[in-house]
Amino acid sequence: MVHIRYVNPYDLWGTAEWELLQSEMNDRLNPREKCPGYADSTGWLDVQKWADRKQLDEIDALAQEIRQQSEVFAVVGIGGSNQGARAIIDACSWREQEGPEILYPALYLSAAEYRKFWKNVGNRSLTIDVIAKNFKTLEPGTFFRLLRDDLSRRYPSEEARSRIIVTPTLGLDALDSLGREEGYRTLPFPEDVGGRYAVFTPVGLLPVAVAGCDIHALIQGAMDAQADFEQEGSLSREVRQYALCRNVLYRKGFGIEASVFFEPCLQSLGKWWRQLFGESEGKDGKGIFPTILLYTEELHSLGQYVQDGKRQIMETFVHVRKPMGNLTIGNGQGLQDGFDYLEGRSLYDINEAAYQATLRAHSEGGVPCHVIELDSMDEYHLGMYMYAMMRACYESSLILGVNPFDQPGVEAYKQEMFRILKGREE
Ligand code: PA5
Repeated sequence: MVHIRYVNPYDLWGTAEWELLQSEMNDRLNPREKCPGYADSTGWLDVQKWADRKQLDEIDALAQEIRQQSEVFAVVGIGGSNQGARAIIDACSWREQEGPEILYPALYLSAAEYRKFWKNVGNRSLTIDVIAKNFKTLEPGTFFRLLRDDLSRRYPSEEARSRIIVTPTLGLDALDSLGREEGYRTLPFPEDVGGRYAVFTPVGLLPVAVAGCDIHALIQGAMDAQADFEQEGSLSREVRQYALCRNVLYRKGFGIEASVFFEPCLQSLGKWWRQLFGESEGKDGKGIFPTILLYTEELHSLGQYVQDGKRQIMETFVHVRKPMGNLTIGNGQGLQDGFDYLEGRSLYDINEAAYQATLRAHSEGGVPCHVIELDSMDEYHLGMYMYAMMRACYESSLILGVNPFDQPGVEAYKQEMFRILKGREE
């Protein structure tokens, strides 16, 4: 299961602000009925719409084929078009599973990075998946060109084409037409789901399946979370409270929320969360600034600020109950290094102690903290956590009074870029 609780330095419940916000919210928080304007962006609310048994089996079959023909699989997409898959693949990487290495060559407009990508691929066989909801984005456009050329230098033309998969919005733009003209295998980017909400659609599912993760378990976790929301169960109540709580804290001057992790393989999960909340809420001059803290390393840098600096940061600890790998500390060959108290202890216990200690020190020091508990780090719990966070983001955006699904700020810089590169706006 996934649980969310508030660790409480400020007594929010029962305060005038809390009561006021709750009554305001009742009007805003009935998403489907009260926000018909968003009907074209809420396809993700119903997980099965884009991930029913048949669709999952088809994605699995394609993934098996790719796993047989490729040692490397490149996800050519940016933002919501890679972040969900990357989050799951990295989060499950502690299990060290067999399969193609998944690379992301379209994250930076950097020649040096692209050269590194090919150096990394080396002589290994490669398949690419070009993912774009709206194929005007510069990163997938640029790198698809470069990769098409490089693939056709490496493979005979028929084979090069068979190593390209595209995931466009069907019927929308050049990526879909190219797919049809060139005979690329094509998966749909759902029309009614935006990039950052697309992890449980072919956008996220194919790369995750190619990496060897269990997409059926992932979707089961998301469906169980959805069922809980439909029955107004405990998870939905905790999510509602989290959404309300962060908004009360925001009004009290806590304008930054850090998602906190104690395992580095969860960094991409943090980036997914950061993109989800950042692009959804940061608009109209409003929004909590989402960031990530990777402890214990950053306890030795930003930990000082969090504990002792300006009171503007709230923390949301993502805590996994089951150990993700383990090691036991030995006797250090009997040398007197001052760490005898660690002998026989597991690294998991030491990391756990760091988590408990940080949570206590920060919350008692006046940092408002939430804890999100996952029983274990696997596909099922990731499905549940990610669905819960998308609902939290949706509800929190409604509370804030912003459109959770657009990103006008991103468009502004894109238009400037088109003016520079094409001499005109799009
Ligand atoms: O979440 C979003 O909608 C954005 O982050 C997009 O995913 C990102 O801008 C990439 O867009 P596209 O898939 O159209 O290339």
